[in-house]
Amino acid sequence: MRYHCIVVLSVIATGLLASFAKSLSPPWDDMHIKHSWNAVPNDWVSLGRPPSGTTIDLYIALKPHRENALIDALYEVSEPGHPRYRAHLTKEQVADLVAPRPETLELVNSWLEHHGISSSSVSMTHGGDTLKLKGISVIQANTLLGASYQVYRHVERGETIVRTVGYSLPRGLHWHVLTVAPTTSFVSPRTQWQTPRNHSSGETVGLVKSASGEPAMMLSSRAEVNYVTPPFLRWLYDTATYAPIAMGENVLGVAGFLGDNPSPADLLTFMREYRDVDDATYEVVKINGGGYDPTHPHEEANSNIQYAEAMAYPTPHIFYSTGKGPYDWYVTWLEYVLDQKDIPRTISISYGYEERYVPREYAFYVCDVFAKLGVLGVSVLVSSGNGGIGKGTCMNKDGMVRFIPNFPGTCPYVTVVGGTTEYQPEVAAVLSGGGFSDHFKRPPYQRQAVPTFLEDLGSRYQGLYNASGRGTPDIAAQSINLAIFLNGQEKMASGTSIATPVVAGIISLLNGWLISVGQDPLGFLNPWLYGRGLAALNDITEGSNPGCGTDGFSAVAGWDPVTGLGTPNFRKMLGQLF
Ligand SMILES: *[C@@H]1O[C@H](CO)[C@@H](O)[C@H](O)[C@H]1NC(C)=O
Ligand SMILES: *[C@@H]1O[C@H](CO)[C@@H](O)[C@H](O)[C@H]1NC(C)=O
Repeated sequence: MRYHCIVVLSVIATGLLASFAKSLSPPWDDMHIKHSWNAVPNDWVSLGRPPSGTTIDLYIALKPHRENALIDALYEVSEPGHPRYRAHLTKEQVADLVAPRPETLELVNSWLEHHGISSSSVSMTHGGDTLKLKGISVIQANTLLGASYQVYRHVERGETIVRTVGYSLPRGLHWHVLTVAPTTSFVSPRTQWQTPRNHSSGETVGLVKSASGEPAMMLSSRAEVNYVTPPFLRWLYDTATYAPIAMGENVLGVAGFLGDNPSPADLLTFMREYRDVDDATYEVVKINGGGYDPTHPHEEANSNIQYAEAMAYPTPHIFYSTGKGPYDWYVTWLEYVLDQKDIPRTISISYGYEERYVPREYAFYVCDVFAKLGVLGVSVLVSSGNGGIGKGTCMNKDGMVRFIPNFPGTCPYVTVVGGTTEYQPEVAAVLSGGGFSDHFKRPPYQRQAVPTFLEDLGSRYQGLYNASGRGTPDIAAQSINLAIFLNGQEKMASGTSIATPVVAGIISLLNGWLISVGQDPLGFLNPWLYGRGLAALNDITEGSNPGCGTDGFSAVAGWDPVTGLGTPNFRKMLGQLF
């Protein structure tokens, strides 16, 4: 009964609003381009129009009523010394911060109504600033956005997406709508992964202790092939003597895309071998048709979960299996995560793509969604990439070389993990992605660290990178020849893909400790890392990340675009929390 009343009232209200808005409505046929590429982006080929009847979910990101409110709040709760430090917000508070103006909602709703889109297929997502149009036919989407949606296939990897090379909006909506997805983002998550190698035949694996007695750097019988194992990492980053507390509330999330999934049996074998425990496990959450076939594990998912657990066991873990599909993977994964009552306190993401193929407005939008996770008290770790400063020649259409940073790492509101290798001293791994964003400005927390590096670099590489951009990575960890199990076999794997769950595991221990003493967790890490946290990092000062036909950047004292500020020391980090 009560239900009924509310429905009637809201019908009247919507009717009033609609007729009110209609009288003020700008002409809906005055379409202007919102974003368009000159041609189909590299590596994608059109397979023509989708079959008739195909539907997609469209996300319309609306401008918030106060443009900087979210980011201002993020820095308040992330900056040690601020009175609101670590006083993370509730979802309701975030929704208030990002709520669009009433006139924005009225305009967009009357535009949707004009196109016959029923209000029952429209909902608010992503914490309160995004309209989701569920199951819109591609034909209707084409009309709505002056678009031409087609099916595109990735030439190497074969996955298909539904996108349009350009799209438009009525002129009167351009100010109100930040971006629409999926439209022109021709990107798909790529693992920051290198194919694992078998141990070469005849090798015996032994546990070697050096003169100073540090445990368990695994060495093969051929002394030149060192490979890295959990006991070594736990010694190197100083978590070995720590017993995690407050496990229940403190969850570590590992994001999987493209349908990759891990094997619980391989995890058990790995954890028996290297952590001497018998009950390592994880919860699987399937998103958007993500599958779970533990008999066909993917090396990426396996190494992610194995190294997160290697560091953070017995902290509970969630593995997100996000399906391959025509939709936008990041937008749909973020929609799911933000919608949860309890979001993991730490999240590890080992997938990224070249920033140059990410439309700017879209990048800004997705980055702000990551900022919402930070405001809510979630620490997000993202891998920096495996191509050094860029794979291949890095030549753009005009024949100019340009270093290639990776998104979402270039987003200033996540913490980016680069790669190291060796020890005593630990040095930069040549594969370590790093550089400067062309979309995102240098954030305030980098205002000292990055100019210091750039001054020493001088005019070298001028024009090949954006000196005013956000620099990556922020932090680093071992990334070469880490032992993993895959289908029962031990392999060696490399990539910032593995460095990322290693750092996420360590951050998760810190968050668990804070929770155990009744404190809020760290949330967005960077203002702390570049401030107090600095004293808890091992500065990496050797090595470089060649690419694009150059020697790349060099690791130097202080921050550098190869290893960031350095690698973690857990015990020292604990000492820098207050
Ligand atoms: C690695 O080992 C597996 C199982 O023994 C074998 O099938 C595969 O061919 C090997 N790969 C390489 C590159 O040697
Ligand atoms: C450099 O970065 C700024 C933002 O920091 C951006 O506005 C500008 O367009 C970028 N330059 C190039 C050439 O991409």
